[in-house]
Amino acid sequence: MLSDIRVPQDDRVLVDFRTADDAGVYALDERTALVQTVDFFTPVVDDPYDFGAIAAANALSDVYAMGGVPISALAIAAFPQRGFPAGDVQAIFRGGFDALRAAGVVLLGGHTVQDSEVKFGYAVTGTVVPGRQWTNAGARPGDVLLLTKPLGTGIVSTAIKHGAAPEAAVRAAVAAMRGLNAEAARVLREAPPGAVHACTDITGFGLIGHASEVAEASGVRLRIDVAALPELPGVRELAVRFRAGGAATTEAHFGARVRLGPEVDGLSRALMYDPQTSGGLLASVEAGAGPGLLEALRRAGVEAAAVGRVEARPAGDQVLIDAR
Ligand code: CO
Ligand code: CO
Ligand code: CO
Repeated sequence: MLSDIRVPQDDRVLVDFRTADDAGVYALDERTALVQTVDFFTPVVDDPYDFGAIAAANALSDVYAMGGVPISALAIAAFPQRGFPAGDVQAIFRGGFDALRAAGVVLLGGHTVQDSEVKFGYAVTGTVVPGRQWTNAGARPGDVLLLTKPLGTGIVSTAIKHGAAPEAAVRAAVAAMRGLNAEAARVLREAPPGAVHACTDITGFGLIGHASEVAEASGVRLRIDVAALPELPGVRELAVRFRAGGAATTEAHFGARVRLGPEVDGLSRALMYDPQTSGGLLASVEAGAGPGLLEALRRAGVEAAAVGRVEARPAGDQVLIDAR
């Protein structure tokens, strides 16, 4: 949408929309850059409080994915004029507010409009030391790939919409989506200097889509080990019957540059293309630092897994993702 806009050169813009990164980064001075992002969407779960909390965790995540620390947020909301209970509106705002507070982020204000469809989210501002931001472009051959949340929230959300998601699967998916990427990001920020080469978070384009963006921006190929992919409990059973709407679009868009080995079954493939709401961070880290970081993430209560490696991509080679 923005790709036709001619952008004047501005040295204070460290990252903007042209590189498919998670957030923009703007240097205020030598010590501080703003990290700015906005994200809002329609309900993914039935409980309004949970929805608000998930919307907040999801919006904050793009700041964490850039190596920033979020500081403030503005709410963006749309509600129908009639027929939507005032108590539910309150619960959505309360869920979001509590999640922001847990992240140490202040709510400064927001804007609400009327719309036939409920939408909710936030614009979030964070800070980072200029030059310390993590982008999609830094992955290097030999790196280890760490993923910090299990996959499958799109499949469970679709099953919820069909009234067919078992209670336990819903609980696990809601817990994963409400989970802040704050601790995962803190552990990665405290990694040995220079050990984190690239980072993004897994959201609407699924693991393959966001991994493809990293591979493309970094000029490398990501080798995904499907046996190592963490998944939400109960998601394999649901994946037989339910696929999120976005999965097919993502596969059509990114699939041509993905190579799937014969051992990749239909369910693993579904998981890799499943659009995530408030998914985990995908970090490309120095191989030597991988085991220590994985251990530190797990000690911090993060359900992290090493899910693959970064390989060199020969000039002219189009394959961005090699999943086996
Ligand atoms: Co993102
Ligand atoms: Co986003
Ligand atoms: Co990023």
